[in-house]
Amino acid sequence: MLAVPGSNPRFLEKAQGLPVDEVFLDLEDSVAPMAKEEARKNVVTALREGDWTGKTRVVRVNDLSTQWTYRDVIEVVEGAGAHLDCLILPKVQDSTEIVWLDTLLTQIERTMGFEVGRIGIEAQIENARGLVNVDAIAGASRRMEALVFGPADFMASVNMRTLVVGEQPPGYTEGDAYHYILMRLLMAARMHDLQVVDGPYLQIKDVDGFRRVARRAAALGFDGKWVLHPLQVDAANEVFSPGQEDYDHAELILEAYEYYTTVEKRGAVMLGDEMIDEASRKMALVIAAKGRAAGL
Ligand code: GLV
Ligand code: MG
Repeated sequence: MLAVPGSNPRFLEKAQGLPVDEVFLDLEDSVAPMAKEEARKNVVTALREGDWTGKTRVVRVNDLSTQWTYRDVIEVVEGAGAHLDCLILPKVQDSTEIVWLDTLLTQIERTMGFEVGRIGIEAQIENARGLVNVDAIAGASRRMEALVFGPADFMASVNMRTLVVGEQPPGYTEGDAYHYILMRLLMAARMHDLQVVDGPYLQIKDVDGFRRVARRAAALGFDGKWVLHPLQVDAANEVFSPGQEDYDHAELILEAYEYYTTVEKRGAVMLGDEMIDEASRKMALVIAAKGRAAGL
């Protein structure tokens, strides 16, 4: 999920050529207050005129504590709603914010003659209130498609003592400072059948660091991660795709299980040294689906 500042037409152009699944054109924190109005226009033009084939097209509007949100939504959706798949609402604190956005989108879709309900919502969870209310946020609208972790804002909002986003805070040696947050988001997302995405890693040149932090989310079951720079794109695609060996093994389990349950009519069977049953089939299906999507 590639982040592109809406204020930079050169980046908006370049983003179209990168191998990412989703691109989000940002009107929020990567755009200076004085540049917000110009950025809205750039984003509308980029959506209408760019070639985004194969990519989910998303815009991040400003959060509801600002004065910009309603104009962001109206200008972008009226101007380019037919070329837009989703909006990201950042710093969501409770479900009423999602209901507000849902209602506004419905009104714009009706006015413009767009299909009502097609444009989705991704909610960014970036503070304690958002995390505590995450189940209600996840279930607040049929438009909800994903929960997105915002580690930088989150760390600031809970006073976590570090300046390096995604890395363990100095002095914390007992475990993973992010484990609870990531798991909490994952549970809320799965409960409501949403995708769940990890946020940015800001040390752009440290690709090994990016990989390490991305692996943590991928291992738990997250669907993806933000990337801020072309250097991070290949690493993200690699980390979120299963390894060839795991993929091959998953396909083998599926094949063997299919054979034993249908031809031999047995439930639990041995595959080499490993016992496989219906739950193994489900686990294998998760890996196989990701591998097939990645073209392994
Ligand atoms: C992203 O928006 C973050 O705050 O990490
Ligand atoms: Mg943020």
